[in-house]
Amino acid sequence: MNQSTFTETIDEIIPSKYDRCKNHDVVISPGGIILIIEDSHTQTRIIKDSLIDLPLEIHCVSTGHEAIEWLNVNKAVLLLLDYELPDMKGIEIIDTLAQQGQNLEFLVMTARGSETVAVQMMKRGAVDYLIKDDAFTSLLPTIVERALKKIKSEQILEIAQNALKQAEKRTRLIIDSAADGFISMWDDGTILDWNKAAERIFGWSYKEAIEQNLIELMMPETHHAHFRKNLLDLRNSDHSLAQNKLIEATALNKTGAEFPIEISASIASEGEPCILNAFIRDISNRQMLESQLIQSEKLASLGQLAAGVAHEINNPIGFVKSNVGTLSEYVGIFTRLLGLYEELSQAIREEDKPQQERLLTQIQTIREEEDLADIFEDVNELLSESTEGLVRVTEIVQNLKSFARVDEASVKEANINDGIAATLKVVWNELKYKSEIVTDLGEIPEIRCSPGQLNQVFMNLLVNAAQAIPERGTITIKTEATSEEIIIQISDTGIGIPEQELSQIFTPFYTTKPVGQGTGLGLSIIYGIIQKHNGTISVESKLGIGTTFTIRLPLEGMCA
Ligand SMILES: Nc1ncnc2c1ncn2[C@@H]1O[C@H](COP(=O)(O)OP(=O)(O)OP(=O)(O)O)[C@@H](O)[C@H]1O
Ligand SMILES: [Mg+2]
Repeated sequence: MNQSTFTETIDEIIPSKYDRCKNHDVVISPGGIILIIEDSHTQTRIIKDSLIDLPLEIHCVSTGHEAIEWLNVNKAVLLLLDYELPDMKGIEIIDTLAQQGQNLEFLVMTARGSETVAVQMMKRGAVDYLIKDDAFTSLLPTIVERALKKIKSEQILEIAQNALKQAEKRTRLIIDSAADGFISMWDDGTILDWNKAAERIFGWSYKEAIEQNLIELMMPETHHAHFRKNLLDLRNSDHSLAQNKLIEATALNKTGAEFPIEISASIASEGEPCILNAFIRDISNRQMLESQLIQSEKLASLGQLAAGVAHEINNPIGFVKSNVGTLSEYVGIFTRLLGLYEELSQAIREEDKPQQERLLTQIQTIREEEDLADIFEDVNELLSESTEGLVRVTEIVQNLKSFARVDEASVKEANINDGIAATLKVVWNELKYKSEIVTDLGEIPEIRCSPGQLNQVFMNLLVNAAQAIPERGTITIKTEATSEEIIIQISDTGIGIPEQELSQIFTPFYTTKPVGQGTGLGLSIIYGIIQKHNGTISVESKLGIGTTFTIRLPLEGMCA
């Protein structure tokens, strides 16, 4: 028998990462010993000679006691056991060894064949039973080799099983010590496995969760259909693409409280039904931080816009103030006239003709001097202009309020075009000196989105566009809907972005603007918001020609 063949077999069966398992007491290794227990010296010599080609050491003893003593100190791969020994029967040796906890592989040799003995010994696990006839020594090497192979296979199997058990243990340990919840389930959501983090996140123990349906137990009812579709899509998708796709969703814990989660799911087994594995993360804290970051970035942007906004408010306030001044002058004239009319009606009642004449002359003089017809026309104009100015101020204040709203994370059905119109009003002052605004807002359906956050996206893109225009240019805003998505494009005729910088612009804090002018957070926040809407944002730019940002939002909108 060739030793290297054996080593290769182990390597094939047990992957190298389980190397340590190979240090198990593998008996069939160079240096293994076969113990011959035989009282006849002649027989012993013949047996020994017949096994000369085997790469194993051979040790011989002639009594049962000697064998037991030797085995208490040494190890043997295989015992070649003569059944009839002077001091004890073969079966007694095997039983004694078994009592000592030594379950050794043995091959029984006997001069006389006995079925009872054969059955007895086979029952105790003998690898073979041989009768010492004429063919005995010529058969022995093959039988021993076969026995050794069998022992080897059993040992390899045992090692492989141990390795597998250890691998399972290790996997379990990894799964249980993971910070993320791990859920293994059938593709209809029936839970098969559930780790400690999942217990923590959802509040259901392993026992409570197993065999329950993830969707029914842990998702709000309004999200069931959406989530079932996600599972179905995952099951039917191209396996390599479906691996670890991140989905944000809303979950329910045991107390019935809703919280946001991120799921990364993958297909664990093919076939019908298939098994899906999912890692689940509670993202309540992250969402809170994100929302704080978005909020503070928004306030920073509003801060940048504040001067413009102040100017925008100042303008109408200025002319309303001057109109009120003129109106109060007019009120002075009307008051004087009213006084004269009062005196005139008194003179009429008293039939004082000269007084009537005098008052009528005075009234006529004022009417002529002040050009009353013009004043009446002017009053109307001043009033409607002032009302317009006040409406404008109210609008600006309302826009600012809706923009700075803290509940901007709320998700609802909204029309993107309305958001763009509202945003344009807020950033108008920032844009109007730099560019002409061209809008081409197509007919688009409402989608489930976070309107406040999308407004922030539009505001950042529009401000970036205006900042990229050195003197004067055009900013074009276009929206359209396809059967699957809404496409929003914001283009400018600004300086453009060098090709080598295109990959960096979405990185947080990347800015080419002077200190104090840009934090470099605008685009990274936009990226996060669009991702949350399951959408994409891309950019195309040519130096000196301009830049176009394209946002694609799926019609089904956000799921949370
Ligand atoms: N429309 C554009 N044209 C040219 N360059 C742009 C455009 N939009 C963004 N960039 C480039 O990308 C960089 C990052 O933009 P981002 O909005 O993230 O930050 P910022 O505008 O520099 O600062 P912040 O938005 O925080 O005030 C900008 O500094 C600019 O170099
Ligand atoms: Mg910016």
